[in-house]
Formats: sequence, structure tokens, C-alpha cells
Amino acid sequence: MQLWKGRFKKELDEKTNDFNSSVSFDSRMYKQDIDGSLAHAAMLSAQGIISCEDLSQIVKGLNEIKADIQSGRLLIDPNAEDIHTFIEGELTARIGAAGKRLHTARSRNDQVAVDIRLYLRDECGEVYALLTELINVITAKAEKYASAVMPGYTHMQRAQPITFGHHLLAYAEMLLRDKDRLSDARNRMNYSPLGSCALAGTTYNIDREMTAKELGFDGVMQNSLDGVSDRDFCIELASALSVIMMHLSRFSEEIILWCSWEFKFVELDDAFSTGSSIMPQKKNPDITELVRGKTGRVYGDLITLLTMMKGLPLAYNKDMQEDKEAIFDAFDTVKICLKTFIPMLDTMTALPDNMRKAAAGGFINATDCADYLVGKGVPFRDAYKATGELVALCIDKGTTLEELPLDEYKKICAEFDEGVYEKINLDNCVNGRTSLGGPAPQNVLRQAARVKELNK
Ligand code: ARG
Repeated sequence: MQLWKGRFKKELDEKTNDFNSSVSFDSRMYKQDIDGSLAHAAMLSAQGIISCEDLSQIVKGLNEIKADIQSGRLLIDPNAEDIHTFIEGELTARIGAAGKRLHTARSRNDQVAVDIRLYLRDECGEVYALLTELINVITAKAEKYASAVMPGYTHMQRAQPITFGHHLLAYAEMLLRDKDRLSDARNRMNYSPLGSCALAGTTYNIDREMTAKELGFDGVMQNSLDGVSDRDFCIELASALSVIMMHLSRFSEEIILWCSWEFKFVELDDAFSTGSSIMPQKKNPDITELVRGKTGRVYGDLITLLTMMKGLPLAYNKDMQEDKEAIFDAFDTVKICLKTFIPMLDTMTALPDNMRKAAAGGFINATDCADYLVGKGVPFRDAYKATGELVALCIDKGTTLEELPLDEYKKICAEFDEGVYEKINLDNCVNGRTSLGGPAPQNVLRQAARVKELNK
């Protein structure tokens, strides 16, 4: 049933109705739609635009509809044009004339703009809470492995020694920024478009501040055209979600590598891994691969929204109905990824002995070896060159800096003495890296405490 019958002589073509309808994806906003209508009706009555009797019938009717949808007693008609139309039609069927007064001084254009904001506000809260949970899992692990030495990489080449705790906390920092980005976008979104009406406000004496307050907005949108045309918040949120996915994807990529026999730095719990249909030995990190794969999907949602908006003249255009599938998909995807990733990470076992073995190869203490010469007064660039020659020599001889005899050191640079072996000991290399933000175990514990404080 369409609400806009009067002007039309024919029923809407069936295919066109299906094409036009958004109810299959906007019915998830039924609670928000009803809350928006309740606030609007209360305002209409407070301003003397509808009577108190109308208001009490509307309130009763809407609350009953909400309860009936919730309990499954009322099924949402799949042929309805959208959730707004459906609820208004149902209300009128239940209470008659008062139901027909609800839409006074309102348009679906400001109605949908309110609903989607209210809906996304809750979604932001959920993702925020999941990020908090993930950061807690990360910090607990980081504390546990504060002194587990592992190789740090650049260009996927072993570079310098770090600790596993330090590596994990890098992700905690990213996720803290993600929380900030999300709440920042949420706060910018939290202004009420209600009362913008179709595009040009209204001649009724409405009270926009009242509905805004009732619905928990921080204020009202100041321009009625902007009120109904703005979808910046969808784009900002999809962008914040894309960055979250990018972070989860990089983390996933590392876990995939760490699970391989080439690394074997970690072992995933059986409950969060899958097998192969033919290769009996396989244990695959599917969750992380799916997270990596689904990242593209969320980026796609962002691009959908940006492209949808770029050519739209003011004010509302039907193109904007496409906002919902994109932004809902982005939130659904991030939530399901986080909900799976969190317990997977929580139950993941680290294998510090293997990390340590990997750290022992690849000359990741070469910088420390050069620094030893610097301590003896050798300029860094000369120390760098001498150490490079030592590394080349070790590669030739098939040995390590730790094993190379002192006379070989001395042949390349006379300033070397016994002390070099202590300097290049991996634990000392890591323990000495106490510079702010560095990987030393006591730094890791301090960083973890700071993250926990910020994550409260
Ligand atoms: N289903 C529409 C949407 O999601 C609601 C707004 C319709 N407004 C209109 N003038 N047709 O955008």
C-alpha cells in the first residue's frame, strides 16, 4: 500500500514496486522509526498541532506495534514501500484518524535521516565495545609475552630484536585510534535533522529542540536542505570502519604468516582453525583469511557511498536509499569479524622458543654491534661499515656474530674487545631498548598499563 495514492490513477507496476521498495533492508530500523515518531508526536501535541487524545492513541498504537514486531506477532509486509510507510499504514489501520495525523510537519526525508542516525549511533556503541574487548585481549597477551624476544622485520627481512609484547601493543595503539575515530564520527553525526521536513522546513510552529533532546541528539541541524541531504556521517563511519578492517587485515596477515611452518611463532586453537578435505595434515587459519578478504568488502561499501553522493543535487534524491545496504553491510561485516577475531586471538598460543630461534638468525644484532664501536669512540658510519664487513664474513663462514672469534673482529676493527659479546646478546639488545616507545620488557609493561588506562 502506498501512502501517496491521491495523484495516481493506476496501481504501481509490480516489478517497479519491488525495485523501489527498501523494506527488505530498512525494516531493521523499525525501533528507531517508532522512537522518532513518538518524539515527533509528543512535540506536535506540546505545540498544539495535534490534540492530547490523538497523542495518547498514537503512543499506545506505536508501542503496541513495536511490541508486536518484537514478539513476531506482526510481520512486516515485504511488499511495503519502506519501513516508514509500513508502520504509518499499520498505525492508521489500528487507530484510524489519529494515525493519519502523525505525519503532519514531517516528511520521510527527515524521518529516514533521523532513523538511520539513531540506528548507526547504536551500531557505533557496539563496535566501540568490541574494540575495547579486543584491546583488552591484546594487552593481556602483551603483558604475558613482555620479554619474549622475536625478530622485528622491515621489508619482511629480519631487522632488529623486539619483544612479542611490543609487537602486539602496536595493534593496541591502532585500535585505540580506531575507537577515537569512531566516537568522533558518531559525535559529529549526533544532530537532529527532524523538522527539516521534505527540504524546506514547515509553516507549523514546531519545536525542533524538543524532539532533538527527546531522541538524545546533541542539537539540531541548522539548515533544512542539509538536514535531508547529508550522508557525510555514513561516509565518515564507513571510512572509520575501513581503517578498522585495514588494521584487522594486517594483523590477520601476520597471524597467517606466524602460523606457517616457516615461522611457527603461534598456534591457533583447534576451535578457531579449519582442516582440508584432502590434506590430512592441514590446519588452516581461515578466520584470519576471511577477515583479510572481507576488508575489500568494507572498502567497497565506502566507495559505494562516496560514488552515490558525488553527483547529487540538493536535496533528497532516491539514490540515497542506497546508503543503507552499504553502511549496514559495513557495520555487519566489522562486527562479525571482531566477534570471531577476539576469541581466536584470546585462545591463540605463542611459541616463544620458535621466536627466539628465528631471532638468533638473520644478524638482527648487527646494529647493536655497530653501536658497540660507537661506544668506543668510532663514528657511527665507520662502525656501520666495519659491522657490514663482519656480517659478510659470517655469511661466508656460515657462522653468527655471537660465534665469530674475537681475533676476526679485531682484524676488521681494532677497537673491538671481549665486551662486544655481551653487547650483542639478544636479551641485552632488547633490554637496552628502553627509549620511549621501544620494545624493552619494562617498556612493554608500562605501555600496556597506559593502554589499559586509555581503554577504560
Ligand atoms: N525509503 C526511502 C529511503 O530509504 C525513504 C525516503 C523516501 N522519500 C521519498 N521522498 N521517496 O531513502
